[in-house]
Amino acid sequence: MLLTKTILDTFLDTRLESEKRCAPLQTEDYVVQPIEDVSPPKWHLGHTTWFFEEFLLQKYSADYIPFNDDFSFVFNSYYESVGKRVIRANRGNLSRPSVAEVYDYRKYVTDKIVDLFSAKTSKEMFELLEIGIHHEKQHQELLLTDIKYILGNNPLFPFYKEDWNEDPNSDNSEIWLSVAEGIYSIGHTGEGFCFDNELGNHQIYLPSYEISNLLVTNADFLEFIQEGGYSSFEYWHAEGWDWLNKNQISAPLYWHNIDGTWHQYTLKGLQLLDPNNPVSHISYYEAFAYAQWRGLRLPTEFEWEVAQENFKWGDRWEWTESAYLPYPGYKKADGALGEYNGKFMVNQKVLRGGSVATPKEHTRATYRNFFHPKLRWQYTGLRLAR
Ligand SMILES: [Fe+2]
Repeated sequence: MLLTKTILDTFLDTRLESEKRCAPLQTEDYVVQPIEDVSPPKWHLGHTTWFFEEFLLQKYSADYIPFNDDFSFVFNSYYESVGKRVIRANRGNLSRPSVAEVYDYRKYVTDKIVDLFSAKTSKEMFELLEIGIHHEKQHQELLLTDIKYILGNNPLFPFYKEDWNEDPNSDNSEIWLSVAEGIYSIGHTGEGFCFDNELGNHQIYLPSYEISNLLVTNADFLEFIQEGGYSSFEYWHAEGWDWLNKNQISAPLYWHNIDGTWHQYTLKGLQLLDPNNPVSHISYYEAFAYAQWRGLRLPTEFEWEVAQENFKWGDRWEWTESAYLPYPGYKKADGALGEYNGKFMVNQKVLRGGSVATPKEHTRATYRNFFHPKLRWQYTGLRLAR
């Protein structure tokens, strides 16, 4: 019974937190989709709700009547096994359902979940509720980064919250942490919650290496820009060089050179670039090129995991040199939830750590985030290794 209460409390807190993250928005902000990767906030609120409806209520609540029969089509993200859906690029066309209807949908499903768990429970139901909670927390991070993209690409640069701090100042001096050659344990042991892509705890061999205790800063990155980093092909992968030229990239996302002075759009509006803060919103291509220019490299995800106890992390998602691949013995879940992680294990890089947008206690040392190398709307940065 205590367990029921605890997880239901966490469920309710999680539902509330998503809405809190949207509280500073105007109604118009909820609907915009400036690029395919950025979903409208309204869609995130509906999709996280649909997840509980689809995977719990439809399955375990015998007399459940869906809030609206069209919502599975509107709010299914990528689950082929669940059926047809609005394609990702068209989420911004959804002027309906209205924001108010989506909030009503949230309340309806939240209440029905509480009713369901008050009436009956099972191990499988708890596991699905837990996944639903962690799924919603992932979308809470996306809510903030998508809101940042929406407001940060508005020519008026409106702020999200005047006091929102995305830059924890750090005045530590750099230490190169040494790790000895050896056999190390990687991955989650399965005690407590983790996603399936972390399972398959296994041993790997690492040659000796060093890793910095600090993230690369804006000042560091500015030096790379000023020394021609973006105009020297030799630091870039061919794919990165093509991407840079095609998209005319010459600085991290949200950097604006205004009359010769560098500014940065943050969730508190357009600010002067603070040199001491960790660089953010860079692609893997840029992280790699920066490391090349320094004559250094990115750590692999294994090097990161082995060393992470000895440095502070969680301010920026850190690009690693590792491709996103299954661990030995990786097994997809049965049914639609097997589509959660496994089908993305191609052409993506692993990011480790977490960011200022990640909900508290959502990430962990074995957490494997993954994105295409060109993407930079998340709070992405880098740490160097050698
Ligand atoms: Fe999702």
